[in-house]
Amino acid sequence: MRSKIVAGNWKMNLSQIQAQELCREVNRMNIGPGIEVYIFPPMLYVSDCRNQSTAVKVGAQNAYPEDNGAYTGEVSMWQLKEAGVEAVLIGHSERREYFRESNEFLKQKLDAALVHGIKPFFCCGEPLEIRENGTFLDYVKKQLEESVFHLSAEAFKQIVIAYEPIWAIGTGRTASTEQAEEMHVAIRSRISEQYGKEIAENTSVLYGGSCNPGNAQSLFACENVDGGLIGGASLKASEFAVLVSEETWTILN
Ligand code: 13P
Repeated sequence: MRSKIVAGNWKMNLSQIQAQELCREVNRMNIGPGIEVYIFPPMLYVSDCRNQSTAVKVGAQNAYPEDNGAYTGEVSMWQLKEAGVEAVLIGHSERREYFRESNEFLKQKLDAALVHGIKPFFCCGEPLEIRENGTFLDYVKKQLEESVFHLSAEAFKQIVIAYEPIWAIGTGRTASTEQAEEMHVAIRSRISEQYGKEIAENTSVLYGGSCNPGNAQSLFACENVDGGLIGGASLKASEFAVLVSEETWTILN
């Protein structure tokens, strides 16, 4: 059975004190049975959060594929592993867009994460013009094909997929349950073609993009939506608490 996951991507927000406080609050939350919770703090606070966390897992928002060397400003998967980091975001649209990360580079990051036993959360999703011209299913499948499908079946089993339509990120405009489910079904069936039905059924595919207490319940109730990658609402303890609560996950299921 695939894992149900709620993950908070704090992006480049919070002071150190605020991050410590939010981390404490998240660890005290009433988490619904069987739900795995991850937080992805800014890199500077990852160790603090890791040391403070008992109930939730801590990931990094980024890492460099080489283990060490002359890469000024970068942090490697190997270094993250030593710091106790359990997961890493790879392919977030903000990194693809602002830092020009290509599908080929993301492939290298995925390989490095897996070598060091860090769980990759591979993000994919289309921009608005692709949604509007109707080619969004092919667009997202291509992102998977070019960065992920070189993995062996054993390696692929370690990864989590997060579908984040760019037009829904930070815009308050969320995908409808029909739009989310349509894409999640397409992702799962493409995984099935590549790795077989059993692996596809066991892969967690999260939704991200303006997910909040008002819409999470219906999104998480979609058969192929296995949880959420949450930006804005993960910075507010009261909202994130709702997303990880048993109520959000059970009433509609
Ligand atoms: P928002 O929830 O703020 O739209 O951000 C989603 C996201 O980018 C998570 O990685």
